[in-house]
Amino acid sequence: MDSEIKTRKKVTVAGAGNVGTTTAQLIAEKDLADVVLIDIVDGIPRGKALDILEACPLWHSSAKVTGTNSYDDTADSDVVVITAGLARKPGMSRDDLLQANARIVTQVARDVAKTSPQAIIIVVTNPMDAMAHVVLQASGFPRNRVIGMGGVLDTARMRSFIALETNTHPGDIKAIVLGGHGDLMVPVPRLTMVGDKCITDILPETEIRQIIERTKNGGAEIVGLLKTGSAYYAPAASTVEMIEAMFGIKNEPLPCSVYLDGEYGINGVYVGVPVKLGPDGLQEIIEFDLAEDEKQALDASADAVRQLIKKLQV
Ligand code: NAI
Ligand code: 2OP
Repeated sequence: MDSEIKTRKKVTVAGAGNVGTTTAQLIAEKDLADVVLIDIVDGIPRGKALDILEACPLWHSSAKVTGTNSYDDTADSDVVVITAGLARKPGMSRDDLLQANARIVTQVARDVAKTSPQAIIIVVTNPMDAMAHVVLQASGFPRNRVIGMGGVLDTARMRSFIALETNTHPGDIKAIVLGGHGDLMVPVPRLTMVGDKCITDILPETEIRQIIERTKNGGAEIVGLLKTGSAYYAPAASTVEMIEAMFGIKNEPLPCSVYLDGEYGINGVYVGVPVKLGPDGLQEIIEFDLAEDEKQALDASADAVRQLIKKLQV
């Protein structure tokens, strides 16, 4: 019994809001790990966790799902997902959330560093690339254990739009989106494939441009429709994709925001690039040659993240 308990993974989700709860639900539904939901609001994390726990028998899942307001209950987590913070409202950019969310993730990162010093942290809170930088500093963790979620979502959005346009199964579509999870993200049509064909060979340029614009605007499109919050189903699924890669269940490279240290000619900033994830978090940054315009766009996206970091003076 004891050995069974020790081999079971533990994932803490900080922020029992829309993204956090949906992430917890997916982890429990797939029986990937035990889950602790933590929030500053009393009752909510416990209530939502209990509701998810009560669904587990129907999913044939043995996940233990608990809710709490205390980091003591999150101790020794393998992975901590930070979704704590404010979400976008109509008319707000991701960057409008900067100062308030920086304070929140700093506190969360410090608490995580004390209670789960070996955890891998996945940062979801926006503006995500800058928040990942804040979490790296506040936690004192090495860069392989602080990784931002953005590219998996942006890529999934692009794939879904291409699937609609080409009437293809999304599983047959490979897309790549580099850069920060912001307005300057860099979809790369040259490497976007439908089956074994490049998208540039099967769709006219105007349609590709529309898909790119819709991808860049994907978060705002949903905020505009929901009016009281932002997307959470695809963000949660994207986060769980990263956890599955860390747990060795999937091993495809994923676009994630990582702290670059010279890779792609970029230094000292979090930016989305293709990576391999594993049990220690970031395992490998996959570098490939960029065309001149792609490199310029990636540099501009990295500069936008740097500007946010400058505003925060971290
Ligand atoms: P939400 O408002 O539904 O949930 C946020 C939760 O954080 C609330 O329950 C709130 O009580 C909690 N919270 C606030 N301060 C806290 C603290 N100090 N400790 C623990 N919990 C705390 O928001 P939602 O929709 O879940 O979004 C969460 C964040 O994720 C937002 O910043 C949003 O912009 C971001 N996001 C990022 C995406 C990405 O691709 N990186 C995609 C979707 C959302
Ligand atoms: C999204 O892309 C708001 O960053 C969030 O949906």
